[in-house]
Amino acid sequence: IEQAEAVFVIFGSTGDLAKRKLFPSIYNLYRKGNLNEHFAVVGLGRREWDDEKLRTVVMESIQEELGEQRPEVTESFLKHFSYLSFDVTNKDSYSELNDKLHILDETFQIPGNRIFYMAMAPEFFGQIAQSIHNEGLKDTQGWTRLVIEKPFGTDLQSAIRLNDEIRQAFSEDEIYRIDHYLGKEMVQNIQVIRFANAIFGSLWNNRHIANIQVTSSEQLGVEGRGGYYEKSGALRDMVQNHMLQMVSLLAMDVPLRLSTDDIRSEKIKVLRALRPIVGESIKENVVRGQYGRGEINGQEVIGYLEEENVSDSSKTETYVAAKLMIDNHVWAGVPFYIRTGKRMAVKSTKIVVEFKELPLNLYSKENKQTGPNLLIIHIQPDEGMTIVLNGKKIGSADTTPVHLQYRHDSEDRFNTPEAYERLLFDCMMGDATNFAHWDEVSLSWSLVDAISKAWSESGEKLPTYRAGSMGPKEADELLEADGFSWWPVE
Ligand code: BG6
Repeated sequence: IEQAEAVFVIFGSTGDLAKRKLFPSIYNLYRKGNLNEHFAVVGLGRREWDDEKLRTVVMESIQEELGEQRPEVTESFLKHFSYLSFDVTNKDSYSELNDKLHILDETFQIPGNRIFYMAMAPEFFGQIAQSIHNEGLKDTQGWTRLVIEKPFGTDLQSAIRLNDEIRQAFSEDEIYRIDHYLGKEMVQNIQVIRFANAIFGSLWNNRHIANIQVTSSEQLGVEGRGGYYEKSGALRDMVQNHMLQMVSLLAMDVPLRLSTDDIRSEKIKVLRALRPIVGESIKENVVRGQYGRGEINGQEVIGYLEEENVSDSSKTETYVAAKLMIDNHVWAGVPFYIRTGKRMAVKSTKIVVEFKELPLNLYSKENKQTGPNLLIIHIQPDEGMTIVLNGKKIGSADTTPVHLQYRHDSEDRFNTPEAYERLLFDCMMGDATNFAHWDEVSLSWSLVDAISKAWSESGEKLPTYRAGSMGPKEADELLEADGFSWWPVE
């Protein structure tokens, strides 16, 4: 087993992310032996907690999230946690932290490796990174890395500012920008499916693929995050990061090697080839929507405008669908359709690759029902793949779609904790492949900024969709205009 030895310093340890994702992930790494006894976690926060309080919260978190009930395991795990009440603007806090880190290195025999994890309000990220550097917290025998949660800026300009700030303190290869979709099992599998299978390798281009559809729908609404979401909307919350990451994995060229640099540079090329969506083309290529009232799993739910901390005249989009074109040799002419939204009919993340029809299909000519071949990559809640072919209906002359399936439920239904676990481990191992490079972040902001600028300037009404539906009808029309339609994702 590969094992890591490091101190995790969590800025924002009293928050929701730490409790729901980070503590359970660290625990799983410990339980599986990826973390041996040589690790420690320092939780930081403004609140006046102490070690005991933090440990109680960690224990509750692993009981609630993982159902862990073995006190002897949790006890030995909890020993590694301590808490420091911290003021990010105060120098003394950093020197106190530094002293603490030296003590922990000694106690747990850790060779000075440190991960600084930013899991708090983003406005402080830059300042914290600089103070870590200026107050000597990077001066250790081991390595130091910075993990940054989203949002990485709120537009290109603020992202550049943030990046400049953190780059004064950490080099690009010490910075790990989290996109938790990159930790999902089946998102990581996209590359294997594409690059380890001759049947797909040779078909993966504009000669054989008609279009690619990427859906990430949620049933949840804004869940008390109205304050954040009002400023973000689905475009910044999901498209700038997760959706574009999936598109670049689907469209990237075969990398020279499976190395971090080779893979990231191929992904960056895709983003550079994305056709900018500006001016008039926005209307033709991007659809936004906002959920109204409706029903989810038989339960009535309120509309977005009625949610807490949401302005009753809000024009924040809770749904986005877009047609993306990649202007390079391989993809010219192939639309990549993406859609994502809250309060939709199902929680589902899926990719459908629709292949072109044969130039002449004898069976369709005979009025038999044949459809295009599909490759469906199931990301969540089920994981796996389906290949849809045409076959003969047994005992009849008719043709019928045949589904070759390999699907299973993910261990955790929404597989988000597992994604965090994998990414944390990669970070400890110094593998940044599944983290966003600055160039990816900046290129995706450029695309998103043009769209949100046009929306904020336009006086047009936002289409609404019923909660529990698959989004506004405009999103269907987006594909119909090209002679396609969304494949079902249930
Ligand atoms: C987050 C968004 O990045 O991703 C949330 O901020 C969204 O709004 C979540 O709910 C979706 O993640 P997952 O893993 O549940 O698909």
